[in-house]
Amino acid sequence: MRTVREIQDEILRLKKEKNICILAHAYQSQEILEVADHVGDSFGLAQKAAKTDAPNVMMCGVRFMAETVKILSPEKNVYLANPTAGCPMAEMMDYDLLVQMKEDMPDYTVAAYINTTAELKTIVDVCVTSSSAVKIIRNIENDKILFVPDCNLGAWLAEQLPEKHIELVRGGCPTHLRMTKRDIDKARAMLPDGLLLVHPECHPTVVKEADFVGSTTEIMAYAEKSEHKSFIIGTENSIVEHLQFSCPDKTFIPLSKDCVCHNMKATTLVDVLNCVNGVGGEKIELDGDTIVKARRSIDEMLRLGQ
Ligand code: 13P
Ligand code: SF4
Repeated sequence: MRTVREIQDEILRLKKEKNICILAHAYQSQEILEVADHVGDSFGLAQKAAKTDAPNVMMCGVRFMAETVKILSPEKNVYLANPTAGCPMAEMMDYDLLVQMKEDMPDYTVAAYINTTAELKTIVDVCVTSSSAVKIIRNIENDKILFVPDCNLGAWLAEQLPEKHIELVRGGCPTHLRMTKRDIDKARAMLPDGLLLVHPECHPTVVKEADFVGSTTEIMAYAEKSEHKSFIIGTENSIVEHLQFSCPDKTFIPLSKDCVCHNMKATTLVDVLNCVNGVGGEKIELDGDTIVKARRSIDEMLRLGQ
């Protein structure tokens, strides 16, 4: 049986030989992060994807992230390491419903969380990520915003930006919605001094209790830089593990043991090996029209999020 280390060494050798850039979302396992060229949140990965010179890019994350890479770099070969890794929230918003809403609300700018399909991105004005949303929505000239598909992130944005009128639709992340106020009470009983750091995809009743609200990498950066020694982490539980690796002198507990995204966890180190070997993964194909139209909303995100 091969060890994790041996598989990692083979991946590192093959990706160099074949000039493959590996991008990994922060929710991936530690053993995958160790073979990645770049690790980040959705916004950071989109920025890296726009800049990389490598002709081949592999995404260890979920489908909409690989599609974003393809939209930004259509000339590249883009692979999703595990083809079954989707994001349920990205599939939630119906294309025809949004077409209808745009017709009914012609004076609204449509902002979409980047967790959407490439098809949906073709009919939105601008994308945002959790780390860039406040800045981007603030920078939009129009003060009437239709925000899809995450009403929890949208509610948090509306609170940060009272000068904007933000209309929401019902939708959200099933993983982050598992965390409740009861989980907070239990975690605080266990770690009374712990600062509560949460992702804005959590329900507003959880977000309003937090000491800090931010994207996956913002949560990690906050905990790493803080003088504080103990933290309750309200996002996907891999972040708890990564923080334990980077700050062994601090204490981290998950807000809920159930906050596991099975889609993010679908990708294994062996999937990465098979993909660099050309016997696994999925090559992302999008038609030219979709790429051109979807790109406008991502370019607008990168421009307004500078
Ligand atoms: P980030 O923008 O924080 O990476 O979030 C992406 C995501 O899917 C969180 O659930
Ligand atoms: Fe999608 Fe939620 Fe998983 Fe993020 S954590 S990929 S939003 S299902």
